[in-house]
Amino acid sequence: MEIGPGAFHFARYLSSADQIALVNQCRALIDGPVPAYVPVVRGGGKMHVRMLCLGRHWNGRTYAYETHRTDFDNLPAPPLPAAFVRLAHDIARAAGMLLAPDLCILNYYDADGRMGLHQDKDESERSIAAGLPVVSVSLGDTARFLFGGLRRKEPVESRLLASGDAFVFGGPARLRYHGVSRILPGTAPPELGLVGRLNLTFRQYDL
Ligand code: SIN
Ligand code: MN
Repeated sequence: MEIGPGAFHFARYLSSADQIALVNQCRALIDGPVPAYVPVVRGGGKMHVRMLCLGRHWNGRTYAYETHRTDFDNLPAPPLPAAFVRLAHDIARAAGMLLAPDLCILNYYDADGRMGLHQDKDESERSIAAGLPVVSVSLGDTARFLFGGLRRKEPVESRLLASGDAFVFGGPARLRYHGVSRILPGTAPPELGLVGRLNLTFRQYDL
């Protein structure tokens, strides 16, 4: 359902079977030949997630996208699987938006995982100006997701994102501040066999 102009929360978008399949694909990627890692950001601090970028690599030191992980091990970002592209496209369409994603940031949060309030603004100017959405899919433990306004000082609403939920922010909501203040440990559906939370955010770098 639409929670504000250009912002949609689809609770339990994914069936249990779809969640299991997606968790397994994510696990294989995270522990694969190009593994997830803990990025160090501009100020020198470590992020509170393990990250793996698909399609394009987001460099936490420069906040720019690149083909190879020059801030970590110089390995190339693994390709974005076709099934992931379709999933994000379909979720965007459910929100009445078009998205041909070419990158996904896959984050793993353990019980202490979190992400400070930020804007997603490292995609191309044209993509952002067009309001092409960010599509987010959550798996495993529930997160307390913060969703603010276009300025950092604006009020922030908190919203629980549970396993299988999809969240879309595009159009006038594309640059809204957001973050994750905490993970609710032990809330993952048991059939996933997942301790912690996985979140995938899909974007389209350019038009
Ligand atoms: C992000 O903003 O990149 C992640 C959001 C989330 O984990 O729900
Ligand atoms: Mn973000």
